[in-house]
Amino acid sequence: MKTLWCLLVAVVTIHGAFGVDRNNFKTCHQSGFCKRLRGFKPENSEYTLDVNSIIIDGNVLIAEVKTIDSESERRTVLWNYILKLSALEDNTYRVELNEKNPLYSRYVPQLALQRDPRPDGIKLVSKDNEKVVVINTQGQKVVIIAEPLKLEFYDKNGEVALVLNENAQLLVEPLRKKKEQYDDEEGNAVDGDEEGTWGENFKSHHDSKPRGNEAVSLDVSFPDADQVYGIPEHTDRFHLATTTSGDPYRLYNLDVFEYELDSRMAIYGAIPVLYAHGTKRTVGVFWHNSAETWVDVVNYGDSTVVSSLVNLVTGGQKHRIDTRFMSESGVLDLFVLLGDTPADVFRQYTTLTGVAPLPPRFSLAYHQSRWNYVDEADVRGVDDNFDAHDIPADVIWLDIEYTDRKMYFTWDSEKFRHPSEMVANLTAKGRKLVVIIDPHIKREPGYFYHEDATQNGYYVKDKDGKDYEGWCWPGSSSYPDFLNPVVHNYYASRYSFDKFPGTSKDVHIWNDMNEPSVFNGPEVTMPKDCRHYKQPEDGVEGIGSFWEHRHVHNEYGLFYIRGTHEGMLSRAPNYRPFILTRATFAGTQRYAAMWTGDNTAEWGFLAATVPMCISVAISGVSFCGSDVGGFFKNPDAELMTRWYQAGAFQPFFRAHSHIETKRREPWLFEPATTALLRDAVRKRYALLDFWYTLFFEHSRDGLPVMRPLFQQYPKEQATFTVDNQYLLGDKLLIRPVLEQGVTLVKVYLPGADTHTLWYDVDTYQAHQANGFITQEVNIAKTPVYQRGGSAVWRKERVRRSSALMLNDPYTLVLALDENNTSEGTLYIDDGETYNYKQKIYIYSKVKYTPEGITYTFIDENASYPTRSWVERIVIAGIKTPPKTAKLHQNEKQTALLMTLHKGNDVLVIRKPGASMAKPWKIVFSY
Ligand code: NOJ
Repeated sequence: MKTLWCLLVAVVTIHGAFGVDRNNFKTCHQSGFCKRLRGFKPENSEYTLDVNSIIIDGNVLIAEVKTIDSESERRTVLWNYILKLSALEDNTYRVELNEKNPLYSRYVPQLALQRDPRPDGIKLVSKDNEKVVVINTQGQKVVIIAEPLKLEFYDKNGEVALVLNENAQLLVEPLRKKKEQYDDEEGNAVDGDEEGTWGENFKSHHDSKPRGNEAVSLDVSFPDADQVYGIPEHTDRFHLATTTSGDPYRLYNLDVFEYELDSRMAIYGAIPVLYAHGTKRTVGVFWHNSAETWVDVVNYGDSTVVSSLVNLVTGGQKHRIDTRFMSESGVLDLFVLLGDTPADVFRQYTTLTGVAPLPPRFSLAYHQSRWNYVDEADVRGVDDNFDAHDIPADVIWLDIEYTDRKMYFTWDSEKFRHPSEMVANLTAKGRKLVVIIDPHIKREPGYFYHEDATQNGYYVKDKDGKDYEGWCWPGSSSYPDFLNPVVHNYYASRYSFDKFPGTSKDVHIWNDMNEPSVFNGPEVTMPKDCRHYKQPEDGVEGIGSFWEHRHVHNEYGLFYIRGTHEGMLSRAPNYRPFILTRATFAGTQRYAAMWTGDNTAEWGFLAATVPMCISVAISGVSFCGSDVGGFFKNPDAELMTRWYQAGAFQPFFRAHSHIETKRREPWLFEPATTALLRDAVRKRYALLDFWYTLFFEHSRDGLPVMRPLFQQYPKEQATFTVDNQYLLGDKLLIRPVLEQGVTLVKVYLPGADTHTLWYDVDTYQAHQANGFITQEVNIAKTPVYQRGGSAVWRKERVRRSSALMLNDPYTLVLALDENNTSEGTLYIDDGETYNYKQKIYIYSKVKYTPEGITYTFIDENASYPTRSWVERIVIAGIKTPPKTAKLHQNEKQTALLMTLHKGNDVLVIRKPGASMAKPWKIVFSY
């Protein structure tokens, strides 16, 4: 019976009327703690710091905090807490508040931080009964006001940059035991606690809440801020909206079928970092908590905020934003990132949570996916058609149907009888295969994974301690408890080649449904009272001896991909794995790329790819993309074209579609459209080494690859709300065409102050930055501009895959600034191994001045025997062309040929022939 009902749920979920079913997901009002905390608006905070209790221990200030009943004359102490303020490297502070003697330990995310944060020094500057002043080694000051407790963080100019508990919304609900039950007047059993404390219902689901209420909340105010950003994943615009009307932004990893646009509803990912930016400074907060979280925002500069409120709260000051974080459980633990530029805060965040390691080069190329390529012949046909139509492609993907009845680590023995041959056929052309592996496990007698998991107790338990059963693709399923180190090891070891036959180092992994998705669970996920492994603590039994799913929910998908990553590293230790994940949390970038899930073939969803990907990029996860073409529904030729053109300039470039959509590989359109799709893909391949260099640099400096304009132009107010354009590194400006039927688009060119020039990459036409220009966009055009002053390396020869281009020659495009200079970097290695860790790579800088061009190695003690050479140098914006050019390399000098083009401001040096394996220079004479 249960099975039948579940099937029905799954079928209705798949075939229901189009659009999200909001009834499946909680509003704030339906989420017990969100409703409770949003209603918590005390006039004054009850939290008071005991100044006499302060001690400084290394880089940490520790103090006692009490809640005091201010109504009572004797100032009754309600509860005792411990506050810790730690000064950390790179201008970061950490604030933790926990009960002094908690009944149980509270969950702290285990994987978000890449390591224990490195300490900085802290110094007590002054202390009296009212306040304490400390500074870190960079002189950034924090003032702790004792009563009511408030923490003010100052910027380097001595101005307040960020305040905690300004609005008295600090709350750490003490952990309690259930009170004795008594009978109310009508004789009903009442437990003496607020309704919902020990259990809540949503639709047909009951959450037993064995620990009762345990929420944490804190308000964070940002004086002088114009906009706040971050806290993905949502489909809302890039700069966050005021939430006073409607729900807060919700962070709770959920599989939202047919998710809607412009929404603050939770979807697959939850990264609790938020940045506040204004012309004065940028600061940020990282809310280190993996439980369900809601975030309210009030931007006093928004037209929706009534002036009486602005006057009341800020005295009329419109440059201020108040936010508030509310989590269902966990420790109150927050990192303050003091900036003070956008690049500083983005780096400070990745210093805490890590960067994406250098990806294998193929993963930055074009990926072809579909749910599903049905059998080996289909895969072969798709692979061959790319060649027949002269479209480069690097990866073919297999969705869930390749398995034996959705049992992961197996193959359908009819349709995929020769997986090794299939893979070999792809790799012969330098291509790869990606296969999907989901976390849910089919409860099928005889399936090794299920048998092992059942016998050894590897599954997540339900509230009564039995193996939890939910419903997902395979039907009745259970979910391994990846928090348990034994399960983690077991899962990782599934990837060894002998255990997953048919795979090789060229087979990479897609981890989907890892929110986790449970079709018949509350809000399509796991019940919050399910039980996870907790490291045993002496003398702790019962409720305190396990974590509930509510504590770890947003981190579950990260535990999963960490296992995949480890498995792939141990199966082929010298090869960089590629993993794609749908669920995200802080730290995801260390293991996987992400995509924006099940979007729809509509223009609005294409437009949403930009704000969605730049939001995750500033939240650490640069490697982001969307299902190109849209997952649901069938794109027409124009939408398909614009999506390929946009996708070609986003980090993860993969076409993917739902099982019920029409086949739509690029050659299935009219020849004119196929030609446009081919052109878009080729544009991507031409810039592959540029992308690869950006990712290499990200792995060193932690900065986003795909950047919001305000990162590079932080003082330029018009950039603060741009979310249909972005930068790749600091060199290319992309304004994809995201609108149907347009022949003109507006493009904002930043940098007027510094007289920045922007060169159209198709024509080399230079535009002086001065706000908006109107750009013509026929169907073949994607507006992309190279910044004057930058150098970009390209590879123009068309091949079947990126591997075949490894040793191809380069074209160097030098776009000159107003001082007639330009420079850029290039990273080269073998594209797939860890040999770069042995200094086998080239990281070089090229620099143009009117005297000549120099190509030098930034990392002088590293080298790589590339066979690539320089085929062409294009110098755009040249004012006085030189008469002669001479290449100097390996003690030889060669005279070079040059031609002058297009209004005489583009100079092309033909076939300089310089080897990229060694430094060189070209000397001009006039
Ligand atoms: C959901 C994913 O978001 C989608 O991309 C995939 O095709 C289906 N699961 C089937 O695996």
